[in-house]
Amino acid sequence: MLVFLNDRVNNYSHNQNFTMSTALTETRPAKSSEDSNIAINEADARTFHNTDAAYVLPNDNIEHQRLELQSRLLYRLMGSKVFHSPLDRSEIHKTLDIGCGTGAVTHEMASMFPDAQVLGADLSPVPGVRQKLPNISYVQGNIMELEDALFERNSFDLIFSRLLVLGMPNWKAYVERCVALAKPGGWVEMHDLSTKIQHILPHISSFEHFRPHSITINEIANSSHPTDSYYSPSAFIWDSILNKLLALKDVDSYCGSNIGSLFTDAGLTDIHIKRYMFPFGTWDELTGEERGTADYMGTSWKEVLPVLFKKAGENAGPEYAEDVVKAIRDVKKFYESYEGGRNFLWMYVVCGRKPE
Ligand SMILES: C[S@@+](CC[C@H](N)C(=O)[O-])C[C@H]1O[C@@H](n2cnc3c(N)ncnc32)[C@H](O)[C@@H]1O
Repeated sequence: MLVFLNDRVNNYSHNQNFTMSTALTETRPAKSSEDSNIAINEADARTFHNTDAAYVLPNDNIEHQRLELQSRLLYRLMGSKVFHSPLDRSEIHKTLDIGCGTGAVTHEMASMFPDAQVLGADLSPVPGVRQKLPNISYVQGNIMELEDALFERNSFDLIFSRLLVLGMPNWKAYVERCVALAKPGGWVEMHDLSTKIQHILPHISSFEHFRPHSITINEIANSSHPTDSYYSPSAFIWDSILNKLLALKDVDSYCGSNIGSLFTDAGLTDIHIKRYMFPFGTWDELTGEERGTADYMGTSWKEVLPVLFKKAGENAGPEYAEDVVKAIRDVKKFYESYEGGRNFLWMYVVCGRKPE
């Protein structure tokens, strides 16, 4: 068994100074090329939630450190903020962070709204990586099944979730559940990826188009945003195998791009969608914030992808074992051309309000 990261997790707040060198010293150096079977065996050493939910990533100390790092990087990528909804502090009395992981965003919520009751819900116990603020309560369970008395309909002024992409089946039902829990006038905000890897076209030399921008539901549906002519989908085998394995459990790995229309269908109004480039390769013109995310995807994700494939393969059944091996081999190839590979994912930030 390999231990990738040291056991220490610093007390952490989004606002603390953070540099990529800090990030990289916390991360095990990238492995040299190894046989994909070794990567599969490594996955056996990880621990996972013990529910029947579809989520495929581990819940151990290594994963907690990855989530903490990712959270800091996202904070920087989004211009030193988490929440995008136009929130009026005096109106926020009860909030929910769904799939709260290590509680990074829950902590942010609780400090922003010190008088509010703040709930964090997750399949796994929330680790003690930081001091728990007095207005936070953590609840363990699947958000689609939790019947805790705290989860009253029409009771939350803000419902937030981030990165449920690798485990939420039936996004329609999930969005409807959130809308039911939100108070009339309250906000629902979701940050999620579309895991379809995109490639910046070779003739493009200006990268302004890839900086954060607003986009409409129609532009997403028709790929008609002005930026859409600057890139095209990449054809990596592992990307399509991931999509296929998750789809077997009804998990939509492109969910980020569908959240806006699901919000409309569920009756939310004042919908606003912002799109952030999440680099999945490096190139010279990346900003410092983008470079931070790219380096993280080049190290932490390189480690976690084989683990993810092993778990998704287990969920899918023995007939998919060959796909898992193929995918892990292809991931290795993908990382061989990571430097200079102008690939990225879109991260969608979607906010909507429940009518009064
Ligand atoms: C990728 S992590 C993101 C954690 C956190 N939102 C963040 O951005 O740092 C996804 C988290 O969602 C949780 N999760 C997945 N499916 C869930 C479900 N159905 N109900 C509650 N939590 C869920 C997982 O256990 C995991 O901690």
